[in-house]
Amino acid sequence: MRKKIVAGNWKMNLNDSEASELIQNVNAEKINDVELIIFPPFLYLDRAVNNSIQTKVGAQNCYPENSGAFTGEISPEQLQSVGVEFCLVGHSERRSILGESNAFLKSKVNALLSNQLQVVFCCGEVKEERESGVQNQIVKNQLEESLFHLSEEDFQNVIVAYEPVWAIGTGLTASSDQAEEMHAFIRSLIAQKYSESTAENTSILYGGSCNPTNAQELFSKENVDGGLIGGAALKADSFLAIAKSF
Ligand code: 13P
Repeated sequence: MRKKIVAGNWKMNLNDSEASELIQNVNAEKINDVELIIFPPFLYLDRAVNNSIQTKVGAQNCYPENSGAFTGEISPEQLQSVGVEFCLVGHSERRSILGESNAFLKSKVNALLSNQLQVVFCCGEVKEERESGVQNQIVKNQLEESLFHLSEEDFQNVIVAYEPVWAIGTGLTASSDQAEEMHAFIRSLIAQKYSESTAENTSILYGGSCNPTNAQELFSKENVDGGLIGGAALKADSFLAIAKSF
């Protein structure tokens, strides 16, 4: 059985004391049968690892080398050495603002897996692509160019997050039917590339304006295994309410 997961991407938010408070509060209430992962800014990762009772900790980014002259960057090996277990790859903000290509994302996936970190791979189409009906082709390309070179064994350490770009931070959520349709499509691609059992075991999360009001409807869909939450993950009560929506 694949895992139910609710993950919080804090993005570039919260100061030092706010981060400490949120780490404490998301660990204050026991949540059963759902894996909680938080993705704080780099500065707070060490603290998050050391103060987490139930939450697992992931990084929002990495550079695909183990060490060296890469000023300002953080390596998978460094993340692993402080107890970080996951890393986001392919978030639309990094694709569009930082110009990260599918080929560069592929190198991050490889670097993370070779350091025993799990990858949360984000994919999704922009508004114009959805409007012209090419969303499936876009997501298929993203998966093929950055993930599907992996062996079936390595792919077990990948979680997929479908985040339609037009739904991120906009208050516009994909309908549960739109999410289910894309998640089922992604699962069928994994089954074709690897096997039915690998597809069945892969958690596929939805991201994009997910909140305590719409989470239950989204999570009721067969192929939606949880959420990657932005804005609503910055308050412990809304993050935990989402986690209780299954
Ligand atoms: P919002 O939940 O703020 O739309 O952000 C989603 C997201 O980008 C998570 O990675």
